[in-house]
Order: sequence, then C-alpha cells, then structure tokens
Amino acid sequence: MTSLDTIRKPVEAELKAFEEFVGRQFTAEGELLSEMLRQALLARGKGIRPLLVMLSAAMNEPVRGSSLGRRPCLAAMMVEMIHVASLIHDDVIDESDTRRGRPSANALWQSHKAVILGDYILARNMNIGLQSGQFDLVTHICGSMSALCEGEILQSDHAARFDLTRKDYLDIIFKKTASLIGVSASAGALAVGAPRDKVALMRRFGESVGMAFQIQDDILDYTAEGQAGKPAFNDLREGKITLPLLCVLERMDEERRAQIIGRLRRCGQDADAMEYLQRIVVNEDGIASAVSVMRSYLSQAVDLLAAYEVSPYRKAMVELCAYVGERDH
Ligand code: IPE
Ligand code: IPE
Ligand code: MG
Ligand code: MG
Ligand code: MG
Repeated sequence: MTSLDTIRKPVEAELKAFEEFVGRQFTAEGELLSEMLRQALLARGKGIRPLLVMLSAAMNEPVRGSSLGRRPCLAAMMVEMIHVASLIHDDVIDESDTRRGRPSANALWQSHKAVILGDYILARNMNIGLQSGQFDLVTHICGSMSALCEGEILQSDHAARFDLTRKDYLDIIFKKTASLIGVSASAGALAVGAPRDKVALMRRFGESVGMAFQIQDDILDYTAEGQAGKPAFNDLREGKITLPLLCVLERMDEERRAQIIGRLRRCGQDADAMEYLQRIVVNEDGIASAVSVMRSYLSQAVDLLAAYEVSPYRKAMVELCAYVGERDH
C-alpha cells in the first residue's frame, strides 16, 4: 500500500501553505478556549479532506500554479474544520473517550465544553469564510453541514429502533461522511476555476471515495487491531448496525434475526453478547461482504478519473483510492 506521505508528495507545497493558513487564521479569544482550540488543532488526524482539495485543485487547474493560491487553502481549511468539529461532537454523541490515541475533547473537558468547542470551531470557520468574500466556495462547502446533521439524526433514530435496511444505511453514510468528502474533492476544482462539469465530476468521485471511506471505518470497528487511537467495537457497544452486520442479517430468517437483534440490544451492558455478535459477523462473512461493497465504490471512483490525462496528481488520486480500501486506521 502506498503511504499517505507518498500520496501527499505532489501537493506538498500546497499542504504546507494550508497548514500556515490555518495557523494564522484559526485563533480564539480567551485563555481556556484558546487552549482547547490549540489542542484540537494539534490533535488533527490524517487530513484526507484537505489532501483531496489540493489534489483536485492541482489536477483541475487551468493555469499552472493556481492550486497554490488562497482559494484552495480556504477551501481546505473549511472542509477540515467542519470535519474536526463533527468528530468533537461525534465523540460526545458516541460517548467515546479516545480519539487518535489521545483523550477525546469530552474526556478532557466534559461534554458540555466539548459541544461548545465544536460549535466555536464551526462559528470561526464560517466567520473566516465569509470575511474572505469567497461566497461561492463558502456556499458550496457549507451545504454539507446540514447533510452531516441529517445523517447523524437518521442514524440515531434507526439505532434506537433496530430496523436499519441497506437503503437506510447507504443514505446515512452518504449524508454523514460521503457528502463532505464529495464537497472536498469538488471544492478543490471550484477553487481553481475548473468548468462546471469537472466540479460535478469531482463531487461524484469524492462521494464514491467517501462511501468507501465510511464502510472501511465501519469494518475497522470490528477489528481491535484496526482501531489505532479509537475504542474498538464502539458501534456494537451502542447497538449500531453497520454494513458488516447488516450483510449477515440480510441472509438470516426472521427467527434468527430476532435472536441477533436481542443480543444487539444487550451489547451496551453485556460483553458476552458483544463478543458473540463480533464472532458471527466474522465467521458468517459479514466483513468479506462489506469489503466487496466498499471495493465497488472505489472502482467507480477510479473509473471517473479516466476523464483526466495522466499526471502525478491523477496517480496520487488513484493511490488515495487504494489507500482508503486498505487503510488500517
Ligand atoms: C473519521 O474520519 C470519521 C469518519 C468519517 C469515518 P477520519 O478517519 O478522516 O478522521 P481523522 O481526522 O483521520 O482522525
Ligand atoms: C463518522 O462516524 C462520524 C462523522 C461523520 C461525524 P463514526 O462515529 O463511525 O466515526 P468514528 O468511528 O467515531 O471516527
Ligand atoms: Mg464515533
Ligand atoms: Mg458516530
Ligand atoms: Mg466509526
């Protein structure tokens, strides 16, 4: 598997400009909030979304060098900060105390402050975006914020009723994850003034990558080793059905499904029930089935890249697709 560092290489200068931009722009008022923000920015993750913005900007730029401008930096900052805030809120919602191998914001400062920190990041993000005057980018990117909330609400509604269908699952992950990743890829193209059809193509590309990205995240939740920095089995613990379990449930008769749902209801309190379900999913090919769905999204994404000529950026995009399917954290 190609490492993320190698995939970043062709846009190294752009990513450096983005980091400097964030350092300059993203500041807070007040001692506690400044410290919380500092920690949140320090503890950032893989940075897949800004990487997509920059690769897309470079791959779509009509004039060489425009990917190094201010607009791609602004787009990369906006998508990454929406992501950072959404995970701070996600850890409150999922009652998760670890993120990227460190205590989550809710573990450090309690949930009520973590909620405010997430809101503050979104508010600063919007401020900076609007003050830049780049309204097309701000409008394009901020559409994904409501989708994210819709996905989270749908997910929690279904989790409480244990009635998830495949259509529901795909709708949820599209809204909570694929939408922002689609916007990341298309915002890069928009930032450099690519034609409309290319912006739309990049959105479809990113959405397919995003579907695969969340499916892989859901697969990794079933593997303790795959959880670098996050608690394992968090989805089962919350009684959340994701694709690996869904694939197994779809093949069962009514009676067995009811029995499995019974165990799922107890997962929060009963470690045996959780272990049982984890074993069923692995032994009955739930993981393998989910992997095959994930791969089909990735191959759709790679096919879309055929619209571009060969370049180091296109190559990095293809490698990024492979990385999403093979990543272990
Ligand atoms: C985690 O996203 C949440 C999902 C959408 C699956 P990432 O895996 O991109 O998070 P970080 O930023 O690298 O930690
Ligand atoms: C992704 O879902 C969260 C968002 C898109 C906000 P998860 O709840 O599975 O994310 P992790 O596994 O905690 O990173
Ligand atoms: Mg979570
Ligand atoms: Mg969650
Ligand atoms: Mg997860």
